[in-house]
Amino acid sequence: MKIIITGAGGQLGKALVKLFSSCDYKVFSFTKRELDITSKEQIKEVFNKISPDIIINCAAFTKVDLCETDVEKAYLINGLAPFYLGTEANKHQAKLIHISTDYVFSGNQTSPYKETDQPNPQTIYGKSKLLGEELLLKNCNNLLIVRTSWLYGNDANNFVHTMMKLSEKLNSIKVVHDQFGSPTYTRDVALAIQSLMKDKTGIYHVTNSGKCSWYEFAKEIMRLIHSKTEILPISSQDYQFNTPRPSYSVLDNYKLEKEGIRLRDWKAALSTFFREEYIENED
Ligand SMILES: NC(=O)c1ccc[n+]([C@@H]2O[C@H](COP(=O)([O-])OP(=O)(O)OC[C@H]3O[C@@H](n4cnc5c(N)ncnc54)[C@H](OP(=O)(O)O)[C@@H]3O)[C@@H](O)[C@H]2O)c1
Repeated sequence: MKIIITGAGGQLGKALVKLFSSCDYKVFSFTKRELDITSKEQIKEVFNKISPDIIINCAAFTKVDLCETDVEKAYLINGLAPFYLGTEANKHQAKLIHISTDYVFSGNQTSPYKETDQPNPQTIYGKSKLLGEELLLKNCNNLLIVRTSWLYGNDANNFVHTMMKLSEKLNSIKVVHDQFGSPTYTRDVALAIQSLMKDKTGIYHVTNSGKCSWYEFAKEIMRLIHSKTEILPISSQDYQFNTPRPSYSVLDNYKLEKEGIRLRDWKAALSTFFREEYIENED
């Protein structure tokens, strides 16, 4: 099976490449420099050369604040470019697996969001990601959309890494206590994608189990790295975000669980992450 991974320089892309390189697939991974998904010509050229069976699109403009100021870029990368990939996938009778986000929802709910719940994004990032989903659902013949949330992996671009870096220089860090979600380890999402990718289609929510606030997440990170830095709770109102953040981002993994796949609790995943990505790599 020939698999193309786009956005392979990002945190989920890296986790998929790492997982799949130990399996029996032919993996062709492309960072942004190697394949810009906003270029129809580049997509065509790569697809003609490889004739893929599956494409996993991990490429995205994920910087929520920057999406607000570079709206055109956000809609191009997160909205139109997935459609370009889907169109080319159709020509090759290939399957497209597209990664999406909890930000397609308003974040105003107080119970976990199901795949069937009505999206209502509040940010340009969320709106542009929703456009990507909608164009694909209308136009792509063989499609799996995986929505995930609060991702972290072996990369500098995430909350775990930021907290670790801050803890090296600060005695205390203020973290919001009134926004809730499910921290999710990229390796666990990669494993779930592997289980779903052959014959599942439609939208699936894929996150680690359980929920917490960013404050609780930060406290657990400090505990696991044995840091003395104190985590202080602060309300969203007092934090002054440039772009509003959803107060409730928990995704219901009901469909995934119906397939017999249950991702472990977020605390267990976080503990494994530190063991696998840091301690083992120190040897
Ligand atoms: N991070 C999260 O907490 C989170 C939560 C929910 C859903 N998601 C979704 O999960 C997916 C993977 O996220 P991630 O955390 O792995 O993001 P990431 O680390 O930001 O990776 C995205 C990658 O896409 C690349 N990229 C940007 N524009 C591109 C283009 N035009 N062509 C090709 N590649 C391009 C980026 O390169 P540059 O960095 O050089 O621009 C980056 O390497 C995304 O679809 C995201 O929306 C993420």
